Amino acid sequence: MKLEVKGLSFTYEQRPVIQGLHFSVQDGEFVSLIGPSGSGKSTLFYLLGGLYRPQAGEIHLNGRLINGERGHLAYMPQQPSLMPWRTIFDNVRLAQELTRRTDRVRLNQLLKEAGLAEVARRYPHELSGGMQQRVAFIRALASDHDLLCLDEPFGALDALTRTRMQKWLLSLLEQERRTILFITHSIEEAILLSDRILVLSPSPMKVAQEVAVPFARGQERDERRGTKEWIRLQRELEAMLLPT
Ligand SMILES: Nc1ncnc2c1ncn2[C@@H]1O[C@H](COP(=O)(O)OP(=O)(O)O)[C@@H](O)[C@H]1O
Ligand SMILES: [Mg+2]
Repeated sequence: MKLEVKGLSFTYEQRPVIQGLHFSVQDGEFVSLIGPSGSGKSTLFYLLGGLYRPQAGEIHLNGRLINGERGHLAYMPQQPSLMPWRTIFDNVRLAQELTRRTDRVRLNQLLKEAGLAEVARRYPHELSGGMQQRVAFIRALASDHDLLCLDEPFGALDALTRTRMQKWLLSLLEQERRTILFITHSIEEAILLSDRILVLSPSPMKVAQEVAVPFARGQERDERRGTKEWIRLQRELEAMLLPT
């Protein structure tokens, strides 16, 4: 899926949150968004998902205008938003329920790989915040949509689990082609996972800088950590994020 955002503007209670935002994500590409908190990243995902309608600008998916339309992409919100009355398995199943019969084998496989097999029959309130976040992540992965919009998907995880989930995501992407838009606060995570990184300005949000990651995609990229090029890129991104 090719996503194109053209001149997108959104005002919330007279305050411009997003102004003239312009970017695109190519089919199969992994693009990360990093920017100050409160700059409007989550709001952008509400707009892409059709929960809000922009006051100006256009959102195109494979060339088709989708402003204000829902159901075109898989979206993982910043808060897990699980349904409290459904078990973990039934929460994950939700993504498939809408489109086709449940693929139990695949769902159980995903739960197992995310370390959640033992809690599949439990309810959300019985899980830690980090586990709930992994459930929401799998729910997005299990969807049939090609385009995944992930809003700080690993933000609530401890460092070790986060590393494991990053590696798992990289290995999944070697098996199946997906187009990904990924919000993160971590420069390291953005370098590890992305083809391209968009650095966003403080509110009203627009793309301030754009950086192509110069390392081959895949699990081997991890080995480039700590090399001169990696550290140079990391410093460059840090400087871009510093308030001016
Ligand atoms: N439903 C809403 N309720 C409150 N504020 C909102 C809402 N929608 C958009 N906003 C505005 O969007 C701004 C950016 O928030 P958000 O998108 O969550 O930023 P980020 O995800 O980059 O931290 C907020 O400061 C707020 O003014
Ligand atoms: Mg946010």
